[in-house]
Amino acid sequence: MIDSFRQRYGSADGVRVFRAPGRTNLIGEHTDYNLGFVLPVALQLATYIAIAPSSDGKLRVASEHRGEVREFDAAAIASLAPERAWTDYVIGVAREIAALGHPIPGANLLIRSTVPEGSGLSSSAALEVSTALALLGGRAIEPLELARLCQRAERNFVGMPCGIMDQYISVFGRPHAAVEIDCRSLGNRTVKLPDGITFIAVNTMVKHELSGSAYRDRVAECAAACSALGVESLRDATPAQVEAGAAKMDPVVLRRARHVVTEDDRVNRFVDASTRGDLPAMGHLMVESHRSLQHDYEVSCAELDFLVDRALAIDGVIGSRMTGGGFGGCTVTMLRPEAAPTFRAEIARVYEAEFHLAPAIYDCVPSAGAGEVQNFETIPAAV
Ligand code: GLA
Repeated sequence: MIDSFRQRYGSADGVRVFRAPGRTNLIGEHTDYNLGFVLPVALQLATYIAIAPSSDGKLRVASEHRGEVREFDAAAIASLAPERAWTDYVIGVAREIAALGHPIPGANLLIRSTVPEGSGLSSSAALEVSTALALLGGRAIEPLELARLCQRAERNFVGMPCGIMDQYISVFGRPHAAVEIDCRSLGNRTVKLPDGITFIAVNTMVKHELSGSAYRDRVAECAAACSALGVESLRDATPAQVEAGAAKMDPVVLRRARHVVTEDDRVNRFVDASTRGDLPAMGHLMVESHRSLQHDYEVSCAELDFLVDRALAIDGVIGSRMTGGGFGGCTVTMLRPEAAPTFRAEIARVYEAEFHLAPAIYDCVPSAGAGEVQNFETIPAAV
């Protein structure tokens, strides 16, 4: 990557590299903006940004996999408007950093990412967090402040009213473990996963157009449920309260609320089951989560449902569900490691036969959160 940086910018003097991972969420979907619980793992798939000062006050951002380079005036960042392009994530973060009183330096940036875009593995948060670290240039920042700054960039500049999960796990990821996040207190605990299982993400290779607008609709429907129930957020409602308030809600709003409150409960039961090493219970909860997202929250799609149903029929599979926002992207499947080769071959075969698309398949290796890369040898090759 350093050679590639040097070729592009003529020199790599003073270059530093920052990494931020993507994620897969094991359970707890669409609960984060309802201030509930989520259980993501940070992945080995990550975004890397190499940065060195430029002498002309320009902020240049090159994306290797897009083969694109853009140039901005570092001093004029605050006056830029969103362009509905990938650079919005970079500029959004730069603006939030400037708003904290840190001037944006003239700099050359090179982005390399192994997080597939549009896959629901949180390539946006990986880009935001790695950009923030690069532009802060090692300036001290509390990890939680870093996650929140990146979430603000996405909400304020990109215009996506997302929760905190993706940015948080990109910062707080742990090797060999999942992280349970309480999206109200913003505290977390490390959840060790039982031995004898592995997680695999399967990419539908589709991203239905609905994803942005439907996300906003869900946020609004949850707010409507809160007003009907008289609570500040759905975190404050129990499943029994939601059912008792059914008559006060539109049937669609009722189903949305039902998903959120039962999903919060499933996260806690999944963590308990994981602690006990109760694999069947974990698998069962993953499937219940998927059904709730499919029927009550209505954020799944034919491709995701097909992958989950077919996965469950393969030997050695313990549980499967969609992961991330929905309307395409990936499923996450929990299985016995020895079943992985057959699972990969079989799921690819049936998916391709049905949808005429070859699904990309990724091992989910729980990895550390974002930081500066000390050893450049660890940076993966360009994809
Ligand atoms: C997207 C958002 C997250 C979260 C998930 C759904 O990934 O960025 O904040 O809401 O969808 O769980």
